[in-house]
Amino acid sequence: MASVRSISTRPFEGQKPGTSGLRKRVAVFKQEHYTENFVQGIFTAMPAPGPQGATVVVGGDGRPSSASAPGNGIAKFIIGQDGILSTPAASAVIRKREADGGIILTASHNAGGPENDFGIKYNTRNGWTRARGRHRRHLRGHAHYFRVGTQRFEGFEVEVIDPVADYVELIKTIFDFELIKSFRTEHADFKLLFDGLNGVTGPYGRRIFVEELGFPETLVARTPDPNLIYAHKLVERVEKEKIDLGAASDGDGDRNMIISHDWFVTPSDSVALIAEYAEQAIPYFKGGLKGLARSMPTSCAIDLVAKAKNLEAFEVPTGWKFFGNLMDAGRLSICGEESFGTGSDHIREKDGIWAVLAWLNIIAFANKGKPGASVRSIMSEFHHKYGRNYFTRYDYEEVESEGANKMMERLRGLAQEGGENEVVGQTFHGYKVAKIDDFEYHDPIDHSVSKKQGVRVIFEDTSRVIFRLSGTGSHGATVRIYIERYDRKELDLDAQVALKPLVDGALEISKLEAFTGRKVPTVIT
Ligand code: G6P
Ligand code: ZN
Repeated sequence: MASVRSISTRPFEGQKPGTSGLRKRVAVFKQEHYTENFVQGIFTAMPAPGPQGATVVVGGDGRPSSASAPGNGIAKFIIGQDGILSTPAASAVIRKREADGGIILTASHNAGGPENDFGIKYNTRNGWTRARGRHRRHLRGHAHYFRVGTQRFEGFEVEVIDPVADYVELIKTIFDFELIKSFRTEHADFKLLFDGLNGVTGPYGRRIFVEELGFPETLVARTPDPNLIYAHKLVERVEKEKIDLGAASDGDGDRNMIISHDWFVTPSDSVALIAEYAEQAIPYFKGGLKGLARSMPTSCAIDLVAKAKNLEAFEVPTGWKFFGNLMDAGRLSICGEESFGTGSDHIREKDGIWAVLAWLNIIAFANKGKPGASVRSIMSEFHHKYGRNYFTRYDYEEVESEGANKMMERLRGLAQEGGENEVVGQTFHGYKVAKIDDFEYHDPIDHSVSKKQGVRVIFEDTSRVIFRLSGTGSHGATVRIYIERYDRKELDLDAQVALKPLVDGALEISKLEAFTGRKVPTVIT
């Protein structure tokens, strides 16, 4: 039962959170009081009035962890049963129950297990990750979390909740469940396959797709990260079984991937398509959209939709946290990132199940007007209307930090006045460089400035190549190169073919091989 002890911890190197909280090898977390020290940092950094009397939500993807909860005068902990809460569900719980913040124990899509990664994310009501590691004395208390109900301890209480209920209640107010249900009964041959039923999204997926919407239960092996490489089992099944809508989500349920047996929807296209249909098809958006947004490396497809609908479009740095301020200010409804994150202002996180439901809702809606509308026909119609933003990303994982940093420093130098002469005006594989810069974001709401968010090379025909280092890798550096080309006429090319000259140009401009020794990327998405 409850034991409250005072423990003093020591400072640790490298507890500064990355793109999405703290992510390290499990062995690092196993150092004595490492986790407690970081969690203490979260509480110490809580905005005024601080942790005194606060309510904090705790959940995760069920990876083994030994986190104990520091005291700090916190009045209440709300915990998902068995320690389970998907990242989007935690955000829903924080907002519904007006908690002050939430701690999610997960390394998201990074591989789990003793040899691999563990992580801690901290979210406030508007989604910002503010945690900073600090040396502090703190208390701890032990509570069990396998039975729903409230337990009282000296000075604080712990409420264990059904991890699915709040989320399902919210999601049912967003989408047209009746329309999806009638579409399913009228199209008995429509095949949905959702990969994630074994992960933390399992209980959510089952409750929503199977119990609420009546789709048959279909299980495939759990996917570590939803992309074409890591979700290969899903991709194989989707092709072999002629699946109409295949979807995957990651370990903590915030990412998604949308495919069909004859099409792969890039995340950049997915968010643009959802924005295109939202007001007509999805009840939550019937009152109109407030604005649209994407992260900088995400393709510009959604900008075209914003322009057509006369909406504000924002370009923010990589990291979901940048969308929160815009949402709180009532200027943003739908946003997404090329890194398989899509979502809206219903919560302050990206939301994998939300994206799958958005697609189901849109397919059901499109079939009312045009029977037989499929993922492919819907995307193709979109490309005919707006043109196609071909997009690919090359990842070079676990590169030696020194070479990667030097490569980025050189690119930054080129992006500065004077340096640009080396590339601006030059032609690489048929593409002439118009501009090079180092992306800087000026938050229009709180006026904070985020510098060094990625080097952009923009060509005369609006094609772009972008270079940045990942903020979510747990060791070494991950170099990401994002390549985009807009085409109004040729709409059915293979993306890798369409982008090959630009990829070669990017490698030449960056001298990647010379700096990193890498000839080929680890992952292409
Ligand atoms: C996490 C963040 C996203 C980000 C992604 C990739 O999922 O929540 O906002 O786009 O990681 O980040 P990275 O720094 O590794 O490119
Ligand atoms: Zn995740």
